[in-house]
Amino acid sequence: MKNVTIFDHPLIQHKISILRNKKTSTNEFRQLVEEIAMLEGFVALSDLPLTDKEIETPIEKCTTQVLAGRKLALVPILRAGLGMVTGVQSLVPSARVGHIGLFRNEQTHEPEEYYCKLPKTLADRIVVVLDPMLATGGSAVDAIAMIKKHGGKQIKFMCIIAAPEGLRCLHKAHPDVQIYVGHLDRGLNENAYICPGLGDAGDRIFGTR
Ligand code: PRP
Ligand code: URA
Repeated sequence: MKNVTIFDHPLIQHKISILRNKKTSTNEFRQLVEEIAMLEGFVALSDLPLTDKEIETPIEKCTTQVLAGRKLALVPILRAGLGMVTGVQSLVPSARVGHIGLFRNEQTHEPEEYYCKLPKTLADRIVVVLDPMLATGGSAVDAIAMIKKHGGKQIKFMCIIAAPEGLRCLHKAHPDVQIYVGHLDRGLNENAYICPGLGDAGDRIFGTR
């Protein structure tokens, strides 16, 4: 699938296996989500443009490369996406952070919006949407539609676990978005939870189970 990267890096797979274990503590879970986000972000941001800059080292003058003007916006989907922010922020500390609040209706599994605050200059930025779980795809599809409505043009979506149904749905709705998936799982159960998955990511990050 064009614009889709499914990671096979052993460090990411190892950390996801620990996340899946129901015995993993909230503290360790949160730490691992942050680490996986950083590892995924390292690859997802490998196409950031560079520009030449003249500097002087203690030895001599030289031309070296720095990130070009294109700025970043990170947009976590609340709540669980919040767990991925600091991992990516540690790579690009100057990134602005917007927030989109969506929760899945437990009966219909459809996302319902309750919050949206995005940086003003979205059109000039590379927007990285963060959510550990891509299940039916409804939340990611709606969040990205909101970002586009606010002017977002170059958009990346990073998740830790995806179901094939959600990946197909997101790719179909937004084929221009670059999607990064830590692991592609088997599918969804009758409650639209990812199998084998890791349970409810928001509850496990914030200890609200
Ligand atoms: C979870 C998850 C995604 C969404 C994925 O959030 O963090 O946002 O479900 O499901 P979908 O692909 O079927 O839309 P949830 O609605 O449980 O809210 P929470 O993060 O506040 O727990
Ligand atoms: N949201 C989660 O947190 N987990 C799932 O498996 C599906 C949606």
